[in-house]
Amino acid sequence: MSEDFFPVPQIWAQGALMDRAAREADYARSIADSHEYWMERAQRLDWITPPTRSNDSSFAESDFGISWFADGVLNVSVNCIDRHLAERGDQTAIIWEPDSPDASPRRYSYNDLHAQVCRFANVLKGAGVTKGDRVTIYLPMIPEAAFALLACARIGAIHSVVFGGFSPEALCGRIQDCDSRFVITADEGCRAGKTVPLKANVDAALKDCPSVKRVIVVQATGGDVAMAPGRDLWLHEEAAKVAADCPPEPMRAEDPLFILYTSGSTGKPKGVLHTSGGYLLWAGLTHELCFDYRPGDIYWCAADIGWVTGHSYIVYGPLANGATTLMYEGVPNHPTPARIWQVVDRHQVQTLFTAPTALRALMKEGDAHVKATSRASLRLLGTVGEPINPEAWRWYHQVVGEGRCPIIDTWWQTETGGAMIAPMPGATDLKPGSATFPMPGVVPQIVDAEGAVLEGAAEGNLVIAQSWPGQMRTVWGDHDRFFQTYFTTFPGKYTTGDGARRDADGYYWITGRVDDVINVSGHRMGTAEVESALVLHESVAEAAVVGFPHDIKGQGIYAYVTLNSGEEPSDALRKTLATWVRREIGPIATPDAIQFAPGLPKTRSGKIMRRILRKIAEGEVSAQALGDTSTLADPAVVDNLVANRQAG
Ligand code: WTA
Repeated sequence: MSEDFFPVPQIWAQGALMDRAAREADYARSIADSHEYWMERAQRLDWITPPTRSNDSSFAESDFGISWFADGVLNVSVNCIDRHLAERGDQTAIIWEPDSPDASPRRYSYNDLHAQVCRFANVLKGAGVTKGDRVTIYLPMIPEAAFALLACARIGAIHSVVFGGFSPEALCGRIQDCDSRFVITADEGCRAGKTVPLKANVDAALKDCPSVKRVIVVQATGGDVAMAPGRDLWLHEEAAKVAADCPPEPMRAEDPLFILYTSGSTGKPKGVLHTSGGYLLWAGLTHELCFDYRPGDIYWCAADIGWVTGHSYIVYGPLANGATTLMYEGVPNHPTPARIWQVVDRHQVQTLFTAPTALRALMKEGDAHVKATSRASLRLLGTVGEPINPEAWRWYHQVVGEGRCPIIDTWWQTETGGAMIAPMPGATDLKPGSATFPMPGVVPQIVDAEGAVLEGAAEGNLVIAQSWPGQMRTVWGDHDRFFQTYFTTFPGKYTTGDGARRDADGYYWITGRVDDVINVSGHRMGTAEVESALVLHESVAEAAVVGFPHDIKGQGIYAYVTLNSGEEPSDALRKTLATWVRREIGPIATPDAIQFAPGLPKTRSGKIMRRILRKIAEGEVSAQALGDTSTLADPAVVDNLVANRQAG
């Protein structure tokens, strides 16, 4: 851990939204006068009926429930579009940068956005979508992805975005889980010069999704795709037939806005549900505070809309604040490792928000690609998704930002809706690798294995002691799973699943997941999901999956596979299994290493000892590192595993 210290730079010390004293006073008030504080903060939104209630949440089993601003009524798309029209109708809302540097960027003003979203909303209505319906969105990073989210919000439909890199099987599971009757997709996606057959994937997924009545298809590449008569509609054809205005649906603050599936320790992915008022407030407030957003800033969050970062910090947060948000179709290092910095220069980006895994990949290519660009417009650099190693932090700070841009390391989760622990550029002295301090109203605690709250400098499990507006409200269709997953390990507290350390200055350092979730290139992956995919293969009897340190991805996927009797281990089978998982879930789940194991280390009661599997995958194979193996049913299996370890 680094002990370096970076005070607030001079350019940020003046004129920032909050300096250190202001941040401290604001935080103290958010806790001490919570109701007044949130009533005031609620005024940042335009309400049809302003709320009189703030936090009505409880984490206790007896009266469990999360609710914010319950009697308020609003429409999220109005807050992201209509209310800006009078003042900044002609200002660019979305800049779209295509995959290829030779293609032309597109710009949509707030007026354009209004027309696009209204038409899209009318198309959805025409297709039969009504308030409360689930709409699955499987799109590439094109402007229509943002329009689709907002069109759902306009008519009160609940969107469920599925990342375009997921397989037909994964898409099908997510459609079935929320019983979605509508899908929005594109003919094809385009990423790093390659096309992704999105429509064909949807067709494959829908073989097992009889509930789906309508598929709306965006023409993105113009590729030739099959259209099922009576089911599939081209967006551009339908949009030409409808009005460019669509009255917004009044929504209660606690009406659902979206479902987003994310991986947990056990079982299939959970449909994390966010609602309208609290979520939007949280996305907007944290976007403004973390990035010290000022009108006119050009802001780029280089995430994908398929993840929560894209929801909160490409679409909802920035648009709620009337910002100019950049959407990039491609990947940071294609066609060259300078691409990301060229986009910064091309659009004069002030704030760049990306993931440590992208930084590590770019860093590896050397500084020349960075130095060949100007980057003079940059004032602020953000990161999210995984712990940032101090080496990547320093490179981002010194090489990319030339020492002048604070690094805003935001810790949060799909479940939290927006940033929870993060610096504010004018207020927070930085330590590389620390996400620093909590946002308003967030009460982090570090607890030991028994749940005892540790004070002062300490390390343990990170929990949040009380509700905040952006908190998820339930797991779609399984409220009990919501309670069991997050509120029973440490009763009365929200369990994050992350470990953390608090230093003597009160800075929080996230140490990584303490459960069976791994973080591959900033993407969450449940080890159980990869295991279930593996055991579906006819040659596999049993599988155990763990994470191991990976230079670029942060964590890689290491799979131990026991074959059915009669099956022979081979490199060919290893390849087959890797391809199999890729097809079942998607490329992000492809194992980095597969080790054939005649047996897995189990306790006498049959429980797999993952601690040992993790150590072996990490290359820690000394008796000391492996620890006590006396509880194993058959200690000899460990020797076999050590002897056959894969390089990864
Ligand atoms: C990890 C992404 C350290 C963490 C927004 C968390 C981080 C999981 C950071 C959530 C950070 C995210 N420092 N770890 N700044 N940000 N994480 O749901 O383990 O895709 O629990 O949300 O990513 O991943 P999710």
